[in-house]
Amino acid sequence: MKLCLGTVQLGLKYGINNQIKRQPTKNEGYKILQSAYEKGIEYLDTASVYGTAEELIGQSAVLDSGVMHVITKLDAGIHSGFVNEVKKSLERLKQKSVDGVLLHDALNYYDRLQLKELLQVKEQGLAKSIGVSVYEPRDAVRIAGDGIVDYIQIPYNVFDQRLDYTDFFQLAQKNNIKVFARSSFLQGLILMDPDKIPYQLKEAEPFIKRYREILCDHEFSAAEAAMLFSYTNENIFNVVFGVDTVEQLDANLETIKKAETFKDCRNALLGIADGISDQILNPGLWEV
Ligand SMILES: NC(=O)c1ccc[n+]([C@@H]2O[C@H](COP(=O)([O-])OP(=O)(O)OC[C@H]3O[C@@H](n4cnc5c(N)ncnc54)[C@H](OP(=O)(O)O)[C@@H]3O)[C@@H](O)[C@H]2O)c1
Repeated sequence: MKLCLGTVQLGLKYGINNQIKRQPTKNEGYKILQSAYEKGIEYLDTASVYGTAEELIGQSAVLDSGVMHVITKLDAGIHSGFVNEVKKSLERLKQKSVDGVLLHDALNYYDRLQLKELLQVKEQGLAKSIGVSVYEPRDAVRIAGDGIVDYIQIPYNVFDQRLDYTDFFQLAQKNNIKVFARSSFLQGLILMDPDKIPYQLKEAEPFIKRYREILCDHEFSAAEAAMLFSYTNENIFNVVFGVDTVEQLDANLETIKKAETFKDCRNALLGIADGISDQILNPGLWEV
């Protein structure tokens, strides 16, 4: 299954459209993690800056069997001492090593010393794979072309098809880099009622309306099509998705069973939001 459960939603109050209006409780967090494990999800995405997420994962039993892989990220604001930083994450996760450690920003990657420290994390056996989580397509293309890392995490969704117009996916494949794609729901913005969009993000409104219009001709809900758009990109190794409840987790697991019937709908959605600005596509720039 090409799914990686994101955990920022479990460690912090997060999301533009947060339906439960709060961070899940510790118990709810455990249930989401346990349920993901039992239902066959094999990857977790976390980070040292995701509030209590690493501790929650460590205190749960989901890593015990060795089937679940965890990928964590270094704090982008810390520029040295990566081996020690990873050791702190390992302590919180109660692990001796992890599947992956990512830089949380391409800027860290461009600093020769920081990249060297990341490589040391792998050399010392603290992570099987190393990588970078990027925000901008140009960074994804450059890092894929360098072929130094094992993983790249990108933003990608039905509104953000920018990387499809570049040679990113070909470069990643050529250099054996596994691509993790986050933001399938753009934090929930893609699923929002157009009337409830905050005024700072009003530019998204016509695109959301157009999305809904297209879906009227297909048998997929807005949430299903958003997940399937990423999931059916064959160059994506894993879709990193977030949930606030076990019900959303189950809904997404049901959705991917429909992947084989999604082709026509996917074609209808190609290029749907071409020209939408970075102000919408990058939640880091949202001032809401
Ligand atoms: N730079 C980075 O490396 C970076 C940045 C951001 C996130 N991430 C990772 O990516 C993960 C996902 O975060 P994201 O920002 O990309 O979020 P996302 O997956 O685009 O959206 C997650 C939100 O979509 C809604 N949702 C999910 N399934 C749904 C369903 N079946 N029906 C209706 N709504 C549904 C929920 O929001 P509601 O609250 O509206 O219900 C959920 O919180 C994070 O947990 C984190 O691990 C990494």
